[in-house]
Amino acid sequence: MRKPNIAILGATGVVGREITKIVDELKIDFNEIKFLSSAKSAGSKIEFQGKEYTVEEAKPESFDNVNIVLASAGGSTSQKFAPEIVKRGGVLIDNSSAFRMEPDVPLVIAYVNDEDLRKHKGIIANPNCSTSQLMLVLKPLHEKAKIKRLIVSTYQAVSGAGLAAINELTENTKATLEGKDFENKCFKKPISFNVIPQIDVFCENGYTKEEMKVVKETKKILHLPEDLPISCTAARVPVYNGHSEAVDIEFEEEITPDEVREILKNSFGIKVIDNPDNFEYPTTRDASGVDPVFVGRIRKNLAFKNGITLWCVADNLRIGAALNTVRLCKKVIEMELY
Ligand SMILES: NC(=O)c1ccc[n+]([C@@H]2O[C@H](COP(=O)([O-])OP(=O)(O)OC[C@H]3O[C@@H](n4cnc5c(N)ncnc54)[C@H](OP(=O)(O)O)[C@@H]3O)[C@@H](O)[C@H]2O)c1
Repeated sequence: MRKPNIAILGATGVVGREITKIVDELKIDFNEIKFLSSAKSAGSKIEFQGKEYTVEEAKPESFDNVNIVLASAGGSTSQKFAPEIVKRGGVLIDNSSAFRMEPDVPLVIAYVNDEDLRKHKGIIANPNCSTSQLMLVLKPLHEKAKIKRLIVSTYQAVSGAGLAAINELTENTKATLEGKDFENKCFKKPISFNVIPQIDVFCENGYTKEEMKVVKETKKILHLPEDLPISCTAARVPVYNGHSEAVDIEFEEEITPDEVREILKNSFGIKVIDNPDNFEYPTTRDASGVDPVFVGRIRKNLAFKNGITLWCVADNLRIGAALNTVRLCKKVIEMELY
């Protein structure tokens, strides 16, 4: 198998740092690697596999002879560099929302819809974090009983909004405890000791963009009909890392909580923790820093006929962004799609 030249674009950000770690953990077999950022962090050093690398400012020429670009540098940066990468024959695996709903761009969760990768024309999109963790859970259940209706409520950590948001939670909490005034910059409301029912901007239909990403991306990844009813409410909670989701699913066919437990126990990337009698259920502290999507509180939904309700927790920086990006990179190499 050929070994690709790889570039990590946005290497100094929260997601980029995680991508760098996971490239090592998943033993990605590359020829050369480079680390790119904006002018701000250019010149800083990154230790990787026992070697010191200097971060370079991303410019079109940075992508000469690069086969695969793992990007987490925001939508406008991806939009700016995508044509330069593709023109040079590279494949862009992008974490931003810039290309996710483009018909020509596969939106892929590794081990869920890998075959869609074959349709790429130079750009592959990584789904939004709250959609990502859900796909590994829904795919095997959909195969068994067919999803008819879906309602998702998310409780999302601040790390999903980047480094500045993590710092804002710390500073805002300190200020609140010390009784001092604090000016929020990343969030519309104080994030300390609070829950904010807004992630991203509001759309005309009253839902936020984040909520509509869950609706649209779920349909694209699982190849669900356009008119299948999906609804989402997304809230930001004062947790550093790890998104939680309460998920209500109505199925076409009957499926019991025991069957769901059994299916998920045997599914890729899932860990079931579900013994409420012993207070065993997943929390963000179980999920932060590790790979599985954790599922618990699996029970019959009381509002739907063939309904199941469950609680799903995962590290939003890993499965929600960096882990899936690097898994996609591995698939692209294995399937020789670059
Ligand atoms: N955090 C999450 O859970 C999550 C999940 C899914 C997707 N994403 C997406 O991933 C992207 C990055 O998120 P993040 O949380 O890692 O943000 P972040 O911590 O703010 O990092 C941003 C990175 O992008 C670089 N960058 C910014 N402007 C650039 C430019 N013009 N040219 C080259 N590099 C540039 C920054 O470089 P400097 O150090 O030089 O500023 C930094 O390395 C966003 O598109 C976000 O939507 C994030």
